[in-house]
Amino acid sequence: MTIAQDAARALFTDLTGRTPDGVWSAPGRANLIGEHTDYNDGFVLPFAIPHRTVAAVGVRGDSRIRVASTFADAPVDVSLDELDELFPTPIGTAPRVPEWAAYPLGVAWALRQSGTAGIGLDIAIASDVPVGAGLSSSAAIEGATASALNDLWETGLDGRALARIGRRAENEAVGAPTGIMDQMASMLGAPDAAIFLDCRSLETELVPLGMAETGLAILVIDTRVKHAHSTGGYGERRAACERGAQIMGVESLRDVTVDDLPRAQELMDEVTFRRVRHVVTENQRVLDTVGLLRAQGARAIGDLLVASHASMRDDFEISVPELDTAVDAALAAGAIGARMTGGGFGGAAIALIEQAALETVSDAVAAAFAEAGFITPVMFTVTPSAGAHRDS
Ligand code: GLA
Repeated sequence: MTIAQDAARALFTDLTGRTPDGVWSAPGRANLIGEHTDYNDGFVLPFAIPHRTVAAVGVRGDSRIRVASTFADAPVDVSLDELDELFPTPIGTAPRVPEWAAYPLGVAWALRQSGTAGIGLDIAIASDVPVGAGLSSSAAIEGATASALNDLWETGLDGRALARIGRRAENEAVGAPTGIMDQMASMLGAPDAAIFLDCRSLETELVPLGMAETGLAILVIDTRVKHAHSTGGYGERRAACERGAQIMGVESLRDVTVDDLPRAQELMDEVTFRRVRHVVTENQRVLDTVGLLRAQGARAIGDLLVASHASMRDDFEISVPELDTAVDAALAAGAIGARMTGGGFGGAAIALIEQAALETVSDAVAAAFAEAGFITPVMFTVTPSAGAHRDS
């Protein structure tokens, strides 16, 4: 049993005095490439990481829903009917429950909104997904809860539909205006593969990465600069993209191609144009990455990862000095490619490296952080892993 499974089961027993009816889990994710393209109906290429959030759940005899987490001091207990009064959270305000509880309760609410009345449950949550590191600890909570409720409420939804439920919880209950990438990665991840997702059609294809057999590894460098997407820069970037699409007269930036960029530059202000250029070129980089992975394997994608980082740093302006330092130091120490991953403004970078170079690259990043006077980053390798499932 993993530490998080143990912790969730123990918490459930503390809460209820009995053992759970089942245990479900869902992973965090890293994104190989395709950043801030999801809410523009574009392309992304994330993968599920081995770190998982676990929900130990049991059916109650009444119609209350009680959630507890190893991260919180006290459980939150509401009736199923109350969920419809608590949510949606008015835009720009904090959820009416403690924020951590808005994720699982938001999932329960979103499932009810989609037509399932539900029955009372006790839910105990534990996680080994680093929080605030840009590795989608939130999608992992949503995925674990949605999987559990789907089984216990006999909703019969597939992974794609549950990802939508998770996103609705994130957008409308937590109040973070995010896209669908994280929830799709957490629900549909598969060992040693990235998920090529078309965020318009929600069609997915698994792209094998062949990490272990080709002697490659993915190093996560968590800068420990915390970020939050319910406030600030994320929403501003999203608004700039919507403005850009409107000026171009299209539904979303998915409909703008690299060839359209000169016209875009003439039509809009300089900042909006750079935001648009990031999204348009990033969509193309995702397509190019998928092509190269299939034709030549992961060693061929380094330059695209580096170009993606530069675009986020210079055009989209969502990097921070710690992320740039991580990327630059990893590349200088021989990484094949490196880029920040996730929403930005902090969080983590990933570096694609030769397994044999793990120590050299990690030491170089640690030294560069020390030299710059940054707090010590946390580094670990990740293998692309399975998506959400019932554990027991
Ligand atoms: C966050 C959001 C995602 C996506 C990324 C940026 O992780 O949750 O929907 O927009 O940022 O690619």
